[in-house]
Amino acid sequence: MTPTQAVPRAELPEAFDEVADRYDLMVAMNPGYHAHLRSSATVLVTSLADSVVPGRPLRLLDLGCGSGASTRALVTALETAGAASELIGVDASAGMLREARSKRWPPQVSFVHARAEELADQAVVGGDAGLDGVFAAYLVRNVSARDELLATLHGLLRPGGVVVLHEYSVAGNPRAAAIWTAVCRGVVVPLGWVTSRRTRLYSYLWRSVMDMDSTAELMDRLVRAGFEDVRTRSVRGWQRGIIHTFHARRPR
Ligand SMILES: C[S@@+](CC[C@H](N)C(=O)[O-])C[C@H]1O[C@@H](n2cnc3c(N)ncnc32)[C@H](O)[C@@H]1O
Repeated sequence: MTPTQAVPRAELPEAFDEVADRYDLMVAMNPGYHAHLRSSATVLVTSLADSVVPGRPLRLLDLGCGSGASTRALVTALETAGAASELIGVDASAGMLREARSKRWPPQVSFVHARAEELADQAVVGGDAGLDGVFAAYLVRNVSARDELLATLHGLLRPGGVVVLHEYSVAGNPRAAAIWTAVCRGVVVPLGWVTSRRTRLYSYLWRSVMDMDSTAELMDRLVRAGFEDVRTRSVRGWQRGIIHTFHARRPR
């Protein structure tokens, strides 16, 4: 696991294309993967509870939706809350989107092939965005221009709209970094090879998490982008201290 095996960010969509048909199998072997996504999706939906108006569906974006695991978590959280929605999944990998589209979805779910960096062009998400919520699970780490992305999301949300980021962060926590490295060496990279005969994406995964902002740095970015009610909490399980939910609201 050396940096030379890692994937340049510009080539990430192609690296995800390479493993797309094995991605669901890979995450099925990761205990807590789906439960953690549901937990973060529930934070978003719960935070929007006072915005639910009969006859007006919530407009939500699942940024970096991949093969649809995070989209499914959102659909489940919305159904549990009894909230109607229009849900757009956006991803830069055609292969991951093909996997997402191959699944059964309620009619209000749609998918768009685009990079997160293109969202400043609001046409990508349907013109005058005014989104109620944005969910981004395991996406922000993959974007170099994070401040610009958060500013774009702020602009896409209506006043009072909420963004929830579900992301790895181990910076400043040596114990979390050591566990993450051990799990990657012992489990993630070998399993990546077994499931897809590829390792470069999983080596990138390790490196990108090691290089990711600390939780405090990401919260600072959210504040600088103009968000309020910025808070974070970690997930349960062995990923405690490694995977976090970040909540932030555009001021009303
Ligand atoms: C680790 S997967 C997570 C997928 C899904 N959110 C989930 O929780 O299972 C990360 C996804 O982000 C997408 N991605 C990475 N960089 C991106 C970018 N700059 N714009 C849009 N999607 C991106 C990848 O194609 C991949 O499908």
